[in-house]
Amino acid sequence: MHSPSTAPSKIVLITGASSGIGEATARRLAADGHHVVLGARRVDRLAALADEIRASGGRADHRELDVTDLGSMRAFAESAHDRLGRIDVLVNNAGVMPLSRVDALRVEEWNQMIDVNLRGALHGIAAVLPYMRSRGAGHIVNVASTSAHRVDPTAAVYCATKYAVWALSEGLRQESRDVRVTVVSPGFTRSELTDRGGDPEAQAAARAAAEQLAIPASAVADAIGYALAQPDDVDVNEIVVRPTVQG
Ligand SMILES: NC(=O)c1ccc[n+]([C@@H]2O[C@H](COP(=O)([O-])OP(=O)(O)OC[C@H]3O[C@@H](n4cnc5c(N)ncnc54)[C@H](OP(=O)(O)O)[C@@H]3O)[C@@H](O)[C@H]2O)c1
Repeated sequence: MHSPSTAPSKIVLITGASSGIGEATARRLAADGHHVVLGARRVDRLAALADEIRASGGRADHRELDVTDLGSMRAFAESAHDRLGRIDVLVNNAGVMPLSRVDALRVEEWNQMIDVNLRGALHGIAAVLPYMRSRGAGHIVNVASTSAHRVDPTAAVYCATKYAVWALSEGLRQESRDVRVTVVSPGFTRSELTDRGGDPEAQAAARAAAEQLAIPASAVADAIGYALAQPDDVDVNEIVVRPTVQG
């Protein structure tokens, strides 16, 4: 059981909080005493999670969010800022991974990965950075992947989006003297990531590998919790968390 930290409580926005790593991160950060604001499209899931967090003494609320829509992302950030007075942290976590070979030309799924994984992270930054810059403080955590460090067949486009998220994080970090930037790169992690879309054979192979190797989503949530808990002048720039048995 994770013991709560004594660090100051923060207002933390989490995208893709309806399952997997986002859900585990919400639980972990709420247990640390932070106020978590949960966003995703499956609002029923978010409502149930927020209820559960509040029932165990934490602070949470939620709002429907589609990260591919800049207006939705801005409304998500603005409503949190209006209600809670500031935004300390954004966890840009929403992501999709429909796997297929490039020559299968599943162009709609390529665009979906670009829209959610990369454009969604950019929308998140656009929505919160002005608030953070005006206060001279904040923290953006981008969830990339070990696929931001290596490329595998059937994952070319997914890897391209994650390499891009890594590059974006590094560029933002270099430009920033007040807002902290962390990129967290998980390896195989238990979640719903392989449940939707993609070439059935490629998805089945990814699911089988995940079933064999995956670590719990709470392991990634703990890494995010660690980065948040450091003092303001300490910026944990990158964390890679993968199963010990993953090659
Ligand atoms: N699991 C792994 O092995 C692994 C490894 C490396 C990196 N990652 C990364 O970890 C992040 C979280 O994925 P996960 O593994 O936890 O998978 P997951 O359980 O499928 O969670 C993905 C989350 O993204 C949300 N999402 C998808 N499209 C969205 C949209 N348009 N707007 C808002 N939210 C959206 C989903 O919510 P709704 O469907 O309700 O909108 C869901 O909450 C992703 O960026 C993924 O690439 C995962």
